[in-house]
Amino acid sequence: MTVNIVTLCGSVRPGNFTAMALALAEDELRRHNQVTVNHIDLTSLDLPLPGLEARNPVAIKQFHQTVEQAAGVLIASPEYHGGISSPMKLAIDNLGFPSMLAGKPVGILGVAAGAIGAIKSTEQLRAICAHVGAVPLPLAVSIAHVQQVFDGNGRCTDANAEKNIRRAATNLLDYINDAVCPKVSLEAILREQEQSD
Ligand SMILES: Cc1cc2nc3c(=O)[nH]c(=O)nc-3n(C[C@H](O)[C@H](O)[C@H](O)COP(=O)(O)O)c2cc1C
Repeated sequence: MTVNIVTLCGSVRPGNFTAMALALAEDELRRHNQVTVNHIDLTSLDLPLPGLEARNPVAIKQFHQTVEQAAGVLIASPEYHGGISSPMKLAIDNLGFPSMLAGKPVGILGVAAGAIGAIKSTEQLRAICAHVGAVPLPLAVSIAHVQQVFDGNGRCTDANAEKNIRRAATNLLDYINDAVCPKVSLEAILREQEQSD
């Protein structure tokens, strides 16, 4: 069974560190057989502010469908002014009501320039995801002093941080494999049995 994971990066800043961290987590996801990674680029979506008409409704519909079809979502946000970034909030606000995230396991990754890391953004993401009916997973990963963790080429130079970032990916896969896949397989078996009866 293919496990389709959607990833969202909450920074649109050119050369941003959130994307560097997310790229590591995506690399970890791709190392696992039968996992496909669908990275959604928020800059190309031209997301409207809540309540305004979408300038590109086709892209928004596609965004909804991509998330709806995902087995899980990995979201990464920078810490901006003690919270999640506005692009990340805008992305979540554009996922509908009820939200396309409802029922989805969500892995959370946060990065920050400061010493306390992305504590507030990861906590906020957990609360927002739970509020829209998603299943935010425990052990959110927060990376402090992110400028010291990646070099100018986006390579991670901190083995411990790399381990933690990769763990954000494996946590999500473990949850899907342990809690979601057996249910899906069982349903398939029951459906097959019903058809043969
Ligand atoms: C608008 C704004 C607000 C920020 N606020 C914080 C903050 O509250 N705490 C912190 O540690 N870093 C803060 N930063 C620094 C970011 O955490 C830093 O740029 C980091 O690299 C993650 O953002 P990036 O993915 O855009 O690179 C802020 C950056 C911006 C642009």
